[in-house]
Amino acid sequence: MGIPRKHLYVLRLRKMRSTLVTTVLVGASVVSAKGLLDLPTDIANLLTSLAPAPASDPRWTNWHPASSGDVRSPCPGLNALANHDFIHRNGRNMTIPHLIAGLAAGLNMGADFTTAIGAAGLLSSPNPLGGSFDLDDLSMHNFPIEHDASMSRQDAYFANPQPFHNPTWQQYISFFDGKERTDIPTASKAKYARTTDSQKRNPEFVYGAREAVLSYGENALYLSTMGDPVTGKAKLEYVRSLFEMEKLPFELGWRPSVLPTTLPSLGLMIVQLQSSSPEPLLEGVKIVADSYKDVFFAIVGGSNILGNLTGGISEALGL
Ligand code: HEM
Repeated sequence: MGIPRKHLYVLRLRKMRSTLVTTVLVGASVVSAKGLLDLPTDIANLLTSLAPAPASDPRWTNWHPASSGDVRSPCPGLNALANHDFIHRNGRNMTIPHLIAGLAAGLNMGADFTTAIGAAGLLSSPNPLGGSFDLDDLSMHNFPIEHDASMSRQDAYFANPQPFHNPTWQQYISFFDGKERTDIPTASKAKYARTTDSQKRNPEFVYGAREAVLSYGENALYLSTMGDPVTGKAKLEYVRSLFEMEKLPFELGWRPSVLPTTLPSLGLMIVQLQSSSPEPLLEGVKIVADSYKDVFFAIVGGSNILGNLTGGISEALGL
């Protein structure tokens, strides 16, 4: 979705109008009615109708991996959603409204999360103001989201960080050997082992506050969506399906959590992951519940730019 310059000014002016603000709950993201009125009707309708797809939806069982010509990312979540057609199967032309609908239908992601990370994703596109990115744009190293010490991808110093890499993944997932379900302390230990391994072997290793928060966030993402956004308890076979096959484990009995995964729920889980981790605190960095949200604001350059990149959706969501 392109955002003509004229439209950006209109959005700014509308933001300045003082209107009565009432709120409605959308997937646990607070949407202001004022903000909704400022949005095109189709997007306002989208934000008020988000929910996981019903069990009868054919996409749950219509999985196949990327065909030739399709593009994929270093993100197992987006790749799995594309493999099920919850987002464009060819991996191209990902707009914020398309992602909001697809991530809610397939994984019950709140619109707040998808808007914030989706805007960061737009910055990886050759034309961020064009309003869309392709999944392979997300492999750009060290910005905006990609980083070293991933759970299942090699550092860019060694190889293309896009595809799943089983030896790297085995380092991580072996921490759960003998367990049927994930838990937060084990995920923290496994994440720290990946971080120290990259630190030792990669002479160009980069790891600061952005990388720490994003990588805790990615742990929280799979724990929340394969399990539950409060406890982070997920069946190991579901987690393996997500990473190893990039497949939603519907046929194994998994269903999207009834509670949506949102920026606040992820922020709280990141705090728990960090506080149960053996990883030493980075000097001068304190991870709090808002750190995850703050990282996306920092990546895009502040709330005004987030508003412009998302055509006003972030403002309607109170971001
Ligand atoms: C628009 C939404 C999203 C964008 C733009 C995005 C982008 C990315 C990117 C660029 C990475 C690579 C980071 C790295 O270098 O390790 C990544 C990793 C990851 N993402 Fe996503 N993501 C999105 C949504 C999701 C969702 C809904 C899930 C839920 C399962 C998810 C789960 C993960 C996980 C678990 C990783 C870590 C992979 C690893 O460490 O090997 N993401 N994402």
